[in-house]
Amino acid sequence: MTSEHGKKPLLSVRDLHAWYGESHALHGVNLDVAESETVTLLGRNGVGKTTTLRAIMGIIRKCKGVIDFAGQDLIRTPLHRTAHAGLGFVPEERGIFATLSVDENLLLPPVVSDGGMSIDEIFELFPNLKERRNSQGTKLSGGEQQMLAIARMLRTGVKLLLLDEPTEGLRP
Ligand SMILES: Nc1ncnc2c1ncn2[C@@H]1O[C@H](COP(=O)(O)OP(=O)(O)OP(=O)(O)O)[C@@H](O)[C@H]1O
Ligand SMILES: [Mg+2]
Repeated sequence: MTSEHGKKPLLSVRDLHAWYGESHALHGVNLDVAESETVTLLGRNGVGKTTTLRAIMGIIRKCKGVIDFAGQDLIRTPLHRTAHAGLGFVPEERGIFATLSVDENLLLPPVVSDGGMSIDEIFELFPNLKERRNSQGTKLSGGEQQMLAIARMLRTGVKLLLLDEPTEGLRP
C-alpha cells in the first residue's frame, strides 16, 4: 500500500474494530500516516477518536483489523511493546506526575531509539518549561502541563507521536 506521495506509509490502519466489553466502539477505521506527515482525526464527541489512538497503542486489547507500523503488525500488541516499537502516546489526561519536578517528569520515559531531542533543545522549544524546571508537575498551568506531556515524549526518539486533544490548554 502506498500513500499519495508514492511512499509506503509509516502507519497504516485497515478495517480497525474495537470493543469496550460488549460495546462495539470502532467499526472499520482506515488511516495512513507517512513519515514527516501530520494527520488530524476530527469528529463529534464520542465518535471514537480517543479509542482509535488507544487501540493503536495497544491499550484496548479487544480489537481486530490491521495496524501496520514500520512493517510490523501491531494489532493486539500490548502497550509496553508498541512503545518500544517507536510509538509514543500523549493521552488527554496527560499523566504528569504530581510529586515530580518538571526535570524529573522530562527524564522519566525511557529513550527507545536515537534521534530524540536533547533537554536543551526541548527547553529552547518550550521556554516556559525551562523557567519552571524545579516546580512540581501539577503546580504548572494546564497549558504548561500540556507542553510537558508533549515535551517528555520528544526526548524518547519515538518514530510517531499520537496526541489526544493536543491543543487543550494551549494558546494558538
Ligand atoms: N472506557 C470505556 N468504556 C466503555 N465505553 C467507552 C469507554 N471509553 C469510551 N467509550 C465509548 O466509546 C465511544 C467512543 O469514545 P471515544 O472516547 O473514543 O470518543 P472521542 O471521539 O474521543 O470523543 P471526544 O471528542 O469526546 O473526546 C463512545 O460511545 C464512548 O461512550
Ligand atoms: Mg476523545
